[in-house]
Amino acid sequence: MRFLVLGSMNIDNTFSVNHIVREGETISSNDYSRRAGGKGANQAASLAKAGAEVFFAGKCGDDGRWILSLLESYGVDTSLSIIGEESTGAAMIQVDSSGQNSIVLYAGGNRQWREDEALFVLSHFGKGDVIVLQNEVNLLSFIMEKAKERGMLISLNPSPFDDEIADLPLSYVDWFFLNEIEGECLTGENRFPLILDEMRKLFPEASVVLTCGKSGAYAMHEGNVYYQEIVDYPVVDTTGAGDTFSGYFLSSIYNNGKSVEDSLFYASKASGIAVSRNGAMDAIPFSSEVM
Ligand code: RIB
Repeated sequence: MRFLVLGSMNIDNTFSVNHIVREGETISSNDYSRRAGGKGANQAASLAKAGAEVFFAGKCGDDGRWILSLLESYGVDTSLSIIGEESTGAAMIQVDSSGQNSIVLYAGGNRQWREDEALFVLSHFGKGDVIVLQNEVNLLSFIMEKAKERGMLISLNPSPFDDEIADLPLSYVDWFFLNEIEGECLTGENRFPLILDEMRKLFPEASVVLTCGKSGAYAMHEGNVYYQEIVDYPVVDTTGAGDTFSGYFLSSIYNNGKSVEDSLFYASKASGIAVSRNGAMDAIPFSSEVM
């Protein structure tokens, strides 16, 4: 099974701070780094590091070539990515002393997709392939419609959550990846099991993975609910933990043919390792480390 991530890539400018800056406040950081990120690129890296065959279609400026090269070094096929006029997306990330983060995005090339470009990318895929989507690119409704027409399975992580999510053809989604905040935005409920109960009513055909931070993760698939407690590592930086989780989970289910229970464990372990390191894409472990 092949995976297509048609998604974002960002230059992550990360500031390590004692606390997330407050309104009107100026603070000094303890460290600064410039690394590869973007939810799409991170999920592609996670799938590839987990051993899956993955294609990444991103849109960036000349200043983003190094991110594509890094993805290639992990085994991601980036030949369908586009270098356009607009500069590469950027993120300003603050990571506090407990590893929690706060992010401001500049979309850059991520929101410059044209319909003909997306159609060209999709023309290489069909039944049996999985498209892995997040909410950092434009044309998401169009992409979902066309992917569905081609018979692809659709995975959606509706992050960052905004008002436009409600307008997407969400009934096409095969796998939702949600944290509790996204779960609440979609369902109006704020905790397990109510979020999953409501998701079952709203999207009876869909499978759902709900990550709950320190409280672990749940999956709802074919009428059953599964739970995995966190695999605990010292937390350094939580940026990209969800991206690591979804990439590893999808690879485990579809590439390795593992059960939902095993896939939850594998994904929890991978994201546990990722949060024990600095950065987003760089921090994602290879499958040899997770095993
Ligand atoms: O999920 C983490 C990612 O969100 C970061 O890498 C940042 O670029 C933003 O897209």
